[in-house]
Amino acid sequence: MAATHILAIDQGTTSTRSIIFDAGARRVSIAQREFVQHYPEPGWVEHDPEDIWRDTLATAREAIGASGVGASGIAGIGITNQRETVVVWDRATGAPIHRAIVWQDRRTAPRCRQLKEDGAEAMVRVRTGLLLDPYFSGTKIAWILDHVGGARDRAARGELAFGTIDSFLLWRLTGGAVHATDVTNASRTLLWDIHRGCWDEELCRLLDVPMAMLPVVHDNAHIYGHTAPGLFDASIPIAGIAGDQQAALFGQACFARGMVKSTYGTGCFMLMNTGDEAIASDHRLLTTPAYRLDGRTTYALEGSIFVAGAAVKWLRDGIGVITHARETDDMATQVPDSHGVYMVPAFAGLGAPHWDPDARGAIFGLTLGATQAHLARAALEAVGYQTMDLIEAMIADSGVRPATVRVDGGMAANDWLCAFLADLLDVPVERPADLETTARGAAFHAGLATGIWSGLPAIEALWSRDRTFTPAMEEARRTRLVSGWRDALQRTLSA
Ligand code: G3P
Repeated sequence: MAATHILAIDQGTTSTRSIIFDAGARRVSIAQREFVQHYPEPGWVEHDPEDIWRDTLATAREAIGASGVGASGIAGIGITNQRETVVVWDRATGAPIHRAIVWQDRRTAPRCRQLKEDGAEAMVRVRTGLLLDPYFSGTKIAWILDHVGGARDRAARGELAFGTIDSFLLWRLTGGAVHATDVTNASRTLLWDIHRGCWDEELCRLLDVPMAMLPVVHDNAHIYGHTAPGLFDASIPIAGIAGDQQAALFGQACFARGMVKSTYGTGCFMLMNTGDEAIASDHRLLTTPAYRLDGRTTYALEGSIFVAGAAVKWLRDGIGVITHARETDDMATQVPDSHGVYMVPAFAGLGAPHWDPDARGAIFGLTLGATQAHLARAALEAVGYQTMDLIEAMIADSGVRPATVRVDGGMAANDWLCAFLADLLDVPVERPADLETTARGAAFHAGLATGIWSGLPAIEALWSRDRTFTPAMEEARRTRLVSGWRDALQRTLSA
């Protein structure tokens, strides 16, 4: 029997999922596991790479088992992952030398400040499309090398490997045979020149990262290697890799210049396809490769917000205001407004367009009339306000007002939030039938490399709409709400 299915592994910030898609991009089976977050100090976030590997293998096996097609029915594996998170491992044993430092981790803020004071930011911006913020991988790699005994010398000797999560999983899946990554993940390290398409020697020197530890970089749709014997019943090609936000853009079939998607997971990430032009932002957005196929790069402008769903998780796990994340949706609509309460979810500093690593979360406007429902409402509204800040910056940078914004991720299932987004952005919000667009994007890359799909038009034909939300809010109300948000935001910024 010909292999006709694709396994997408979506390794996110709080959970790992494996999904089997058929050639019609229909979900056949899914397995998911949440894993432990480590917060060793305020502002620090770590993951145990062994947890991630264990869950990846377990969910992949479970999804394959439930699909009924067996490993031999899988044409290829597509990996998509939380980006920027850093793993450093020993090439000889495959063992990580430190827990993974997660994208949300702020420990290298002083180092970034120092680099900025030294005047390095302009060069970093031009070459990488990023800016000097602890969000990105480079300063995190250096931190591990400086804090694990002997690591610096071992890295220089080529004994240690660096990878984002995709790269670490690829290494493990191939039994240590392949050390590689894709262009979207490479571009989030501060070490990759997005214009020349190569690791940049000068940036590696600036950030103190030996080039000997860097992975080889390929197109998104590419046969990276094959699964090692014993992992599955048959060896499967690993045929696609993309960072999760770029994968979501691809999964949403945003292939034309000016098309925008916004994904609501732990954080919120809005990307606009800018075609073959890498637009330099004047509004502190990021310039990033969206995908590279057959050696040709398509770029995007990106706005990154660090906390979206994470604020709801905090309401549940941090202060126990709710017991299930889903309750937020009901609570938020029980009340007509937030009763003047604004939450600025700067729990991990603020990302675009403010880039303030020292800001911390704040709640304003509390009165004795404020209830749990108002807090829940404020948390959801904050997602809308932050998205609005991003789209304004994006329109100003690109000169393009998108016709629609395609939303996805878990929170996009919430009708009220989608309607609020349309009102605030003043742009129709389109919700696809399948909200698993990140996994679909990874599957599409793997399916392109293995011939399941012939090209972008074939993929585009698989996208379908669930619902469009059109803007309906009165202008006076919008203005009043937005001015309250701007005020709360100003009071939260650290300087
Ligand atoms: O840049 C971080 C991003 O890739 C994390 O995505 O879906 O895990 O919130 P997510």
